[in-house]
Amino acid sequence: MTELLRVGIAGTGSYLPEKVVPNSWFEGFLDTSDEWIRQRTGIGERRYVAEGECTSTLSIEAGRMACEAAGIDPADLDMIVLGTLTPDYQLPSCAVLVQDGLGAKRAAAFDCSSACTGFVNAAQIGEAMISSGRAKRVLAIGAEVLSRSLNFEDRGSCILFGDGAGAAILAPHDDCRQGEFLKSTMGSDGSGYEFIHMPAGGAAERPTPEMFEKRNHYITLQGRAVYRFAVQKMSEMIEEMLEGQDLSELGLIIPHQVNSRIIEAALERLDIPLDKVMLNIEQFANTSAATVPIALDQARREGRLEPGKLVVLVAFGAGVTWGASLLRW
Ligand code: UT7
Repeated sequence: MTELLRVGIAGTGSYLPEKVVPNSWFEGFLDTSDEWIRQRTGIGERRYVAEGECTSTLSIEAGRMACEAAGIDPADLDMIVLGTLTPDYQLPSCAVLVQDGLGAKRAAAFDCSSACTGFVNAAQIGEAMISSGRAKRVLAIGAEVLSRSLNFEDRGSCILFGDGAGAAILAPHDDCRQGEFLKSTMGSDGSGYEFIHMPAGGAAERPTPEMFEKRNHYITLQGRAVYRFAVQKMSEMIEEMLEGQDLSELGLIIPHQVNSRIIEAALERLDIPLDKVMLNIEQFANTSAATVPIALDQARREGRLEPGKLVVLVAFGAGVTWGASLLRW
């Protein structure tokens, strides 16, 4: 059996659209308030794309920045894995548009459809490909344009989400000497597929005027059910990642930015102080697959990734799906 290679994160990047949408914007057409949204979710504002921007364009920007940070030419990438629930098209994948846009001529490219877990799963696929020697440079991306899939008549869901993209270059640890993957977990439970759901737009139903009238092509949400699952699953995964580790070595937990109350409740169960968590939901809201790589890139740029310290990436989402990785930075 071939010996498995150690894998690290050689560089990160992120891109947020310019348009800032504060909570007060929703007050103009919905029975909601800035106060309710802040108290129940921790969200203050989010970014929405402008005309002409879409998931591939955000991904290309984030991918380019990650390549620059890693000091590699996109032409040297072996693979691009894009986690998204909002690809530009049903066909082909969004990743191939990114491959072309970056000039990543040698790279295989495909999407990873596990909703908010998309980036964590994409990075885990990249890690497995490199550790087995089948690839050397993998670009993992999490990117979403959720603003085009929201039902702006549903106050329980539309206030939660934003647009954005984050990316990471994975490479052999010997080449980058940072962000080493120590262990990972992933899983799913499709019995909860209706918790977060977009009923139309796929093969289950032919597009008809009635389908659009029923708003079936927008995201629907059973917020309370997700809330309970999320607190439980997030604390379980963090516990699993940190099992057997010296907790004084914990640097940062980078969770899916779902709701600050969910994140706080999960950390409270584990007795982990809030200064060990990367939180940016106030600024960018929930960008689904993009939250973890955007927060990872922000942490790097703010100097919060200390060499030698442990970092936990943890996410869960529609499906339901979940995944986490433990890294040593
Ligand atoms: O990344 C995965 C996708 N994200 C999620 O699935 C989100 C997970 N869930 C959550 O974050 C929370 O459950 C929500 C933020 C969605 C809701 O917070 P909550 O504390 O669970 O509220 P709730 O659903 O129990 O609703 C409480 C009340 C309800 O009114 P009544 O029935 O008590 O009269 C809602 O109709 O709040 C009402 N409500 C709102 N009020 C003002 C729901 N949305 C709003 C709103 N503004 N935007």
